[in-house]
Amino acid sequence: MANMTVFGSQWGDEGKGKIVDLLSSEVQCVVRYQGGNNAGHTVIVNGQKYVLHVIPSGILHDGILCVISNGVVLDPFVFLTEIDNLNAKNIDTSPKRLFVSPKTHLIMPYHKVLDSARENMKSDGKIGTTGRGIGPCYEDKMARIGVRAGDLSDPNLVRQKIEIALKEKNALFKGLYNVDEMSVEEVFKEVMSIADRLLPYVQDTTELLYSLHKQGKSALFEGAQGVMLDIDHGTYPFVTSSNTICNNASVGSGFPSEYINEHIAIVKAYTTRVGAGPFPTELFDETGDFLREKGGEYGATTGRTRRCGWFDACVLRECYRICKPTTFALTKLDVLGGLDEIKICVAYSCEGKTLSYPPESAAGLAKCEPIFESMPGWKEDISSCSKWEELPENARKYVEKLEELIGVKAGFVSVGPDRNQTIRR
Ligand code: IMP
Repeated sequence: MANMTVFGSQWGDEGKGKIVDLLSSEVQCVVRYQGGNNAGHTVIVNGQKYVLHVIPSGILHDGILCVISNGVVLDPFVFLTEIDNLNAKNIDTSPKRLFVSPKTHLIMPYHKVLDSARENMKSDGKIGTTGRGIGPCYEDKMARIGVRAGDLSDPNLVRQKIEIALKEKNALFKGLYNVDEMSVEEVFKEVMSIADRLLPYVQDTTELLYSLHKQGKSALFEGAQGVMLDIDHGTYPFVTSSNTICNNASVGSGFPSEYINEHIAIVKAYTTRVGAGPFPTELFDETGDFLREKGGEYGATTGRTRRCGWFDACVLRECYRICKPTTFALTKLDVLGGLDEIKICVAYSCEGKTLSYPPESAAGLAKCEPIFESMPGWKEDISSCSKWEELPENARKYVEKLEELIGVKAGFVSVGPDRNQTIRR
């Protein structure tokens, strides 16, 4: 099996967790390479539901190694809680199979406070962050004042770094955001209280990935969020703080891109978005409510209602030209069942021009009107279809239309949340 990335092609929540889980049994290692616990992957195995935020869903397969690599920002408290929850379900999370890069930046208590304080202060232009401290942690990484997982073995260094970070943050908390200042000693104690539990997981993951590769073993690089939330290529500023595109798998893990030969884009059969920002195909009517209810479109991380709309081919063209996926996995096709008509946005109309790709700015995208093509729906319940031929003709035609618009074939079609409800082509 080749090394591969599995990544979101829209605004996140495409159902990556399920496909990663499915493919995990075919590789020896699963790697998270960006983002943090802003992501939430729901995986259902034999009716048992698991919601994972930071630990790769590969953990649900015996013997698969799981890596949280340097590109991730890790909330150590969430990480340990997730370990406890998995242990309660008899899943092995020992440091023999779960690894954290020493270069992974830690989300500190003050990052969460800053994230919320900043959002709360904005009257206009709220991004709608998950409030998990993701942005502030990446900011400190770039400002070169971040605390990394490997630092925990050097308490003096951790204290020094907290001192430097809090000098600035406390000035903001007091002078600008009107929230309580934080004490260096208290933060230091809180963070060091988990050092003994976290440190056994901290290992040189660059070396681990390299040596697995040399032994002919393969890895799956699991992305979080989606292309349109990428800090560079998404609908800036309504984006997350990392590069979500598959190409970041290499930088975010220290594994050569040349060795990664498969890129699987996860494509939801319609579109959803959480938080603020333009969304041309958004539905404000009962069809939007239908998709939300039938698709269970409520955030796995924050429980927030997801905005729902029709499939947008401009978004997928953008994904294709930036990431060049080798195939795509179409998820939640079953959710569309029961609709008389299904619309597909094939282009935008924007100030008298017809566009095939999203404009470069969020303001430009907000001016775009979708140009729709319509397809007939299907009434049958497809959730037990296990072969392509078993799908109703209109469902097959819909998938083929998407393939034509995206420019690559669907290797997987998901017809329900369970691992087994997936048609492979
Ligand atoms: P942050 O990543 O918490 O800073 O949030 C920035 C934006 O990305 C907000 O609009 C979030 O709703 C969105 N976002 C972050 N993670 C996810 C995700 O896993 N799925 C969908 N949206 C996300």
